[in-house]
Amino acid sequence: MRYVVISGGGTGIGRAIAERHAAAGDQVILLGRRMHVLEQTVEYIGHSIAKAPRAIAIPADLTRVDDVERLKATLDDKKITHIDVLVNNAGGADVRHAETLSDIAEQWIQDYKTNVLTAVLLTSALRSRLTRPGGRVINISSIAAVQGAGDSYAAAKAGILGWTYSLATELGPEGITVNAVVPGYIENTEFFGDRMTPERHQRLVNRTVVGRAGRPSDIAETVFFLASREAEYITGQVLHVNGGAIYGRA
Ligand SMILES: NC(=O)c1ccc[n+]([C@@H]2O[C@H](COP(=O)([O-])OP(=O)(O)OC[C@H]3O[C@@H](n4cnc5c(N)ncnc54)[C@H](OP(=O)(O)O)[C@@H]3O)[C@@H](O)[C@H]2O)c1
Repeated sequence: MRYVVISGGGTGIGRAIAERHAAAGDQVILLGRRMHVLEQTVEYIGHSIAKAPRAIAIPADLTRVDDVERLKATLDDKKITHIDVLVNNAGGADVRHAETLSDIAEQWIQDYKTNVLTAVLLTSALRSRLTRPGGRVINISSIAAVQGAGDSYAAAKAGILGWTYSLATELGPEGITVNAVVPGYIENTEFFGDRMTPERHQRLVNRTVVGRAGRPSDIAETVFFLASREAEYITGQVLHVNGGAIYGRA
């Protein structure tokens, strides 16, 4: 049985990744700030997907060092000493209308913390537990990183790509692959909150060549493949999943 840690595993894309892995018999460990949201997903997986308990929830704000330390201690308590797959999926955009310099500074710091620091702290904390050889780290970036849209968010998600390359170089000799998945527009997540309108939805769909919005399962299937043994020769790569909204950019 593989151990799969998924940050932001209670909602949207992370939840779909958790469901996909649990359905395959993996033990999934879901992280997020809201325990009740994580618990709902754990309950759903337990009732509808996996026969044995295949999901556990650990609440943590992954921008906080003390929370990440606590998470490590919780894994120790649960005797989870090796992690086969780490999916750095937690993220989001700070959508405040920033005009003053202090607002701009806060927005950039917040987006950096939410999208980069969460992944870096979690990976650093779990690094020594990653299975060698065979471990997998999969980082979720965004189409914003390569086409703009939301300046501080785009910059943070682009930062994830550079970090993915560095980590792939460091961990490759130990038999661990590190890749980034770059979603285009994915509906049915909490990402857009109440900011999605029918017009905006249609505009985003029109940018694809397949004529539909992405589904969380589109990303989950991609992550599941990258996490497989068959993907062991793929590392340091950026995989776009966007219905053709943009083609083949690094
Ligand atoms: N939906 C899209 O169109 C789209 C497109 C490109 C990229 N993405 C990326 O895909 C990833 C998943 O997003 P989603 O669309 O599934 O949206 P979502 O439903 O809002 O998922 C984001 C998850 O991250 C968790 N999270 C946020 N900040 C956290 C923190 N400080 N510590 C721990 N967990 C935290 C949230 O849980 P809590 O709030 O409970 O902490 C939530 O479960 C994100 O990285 C997002 O940037 C999404």
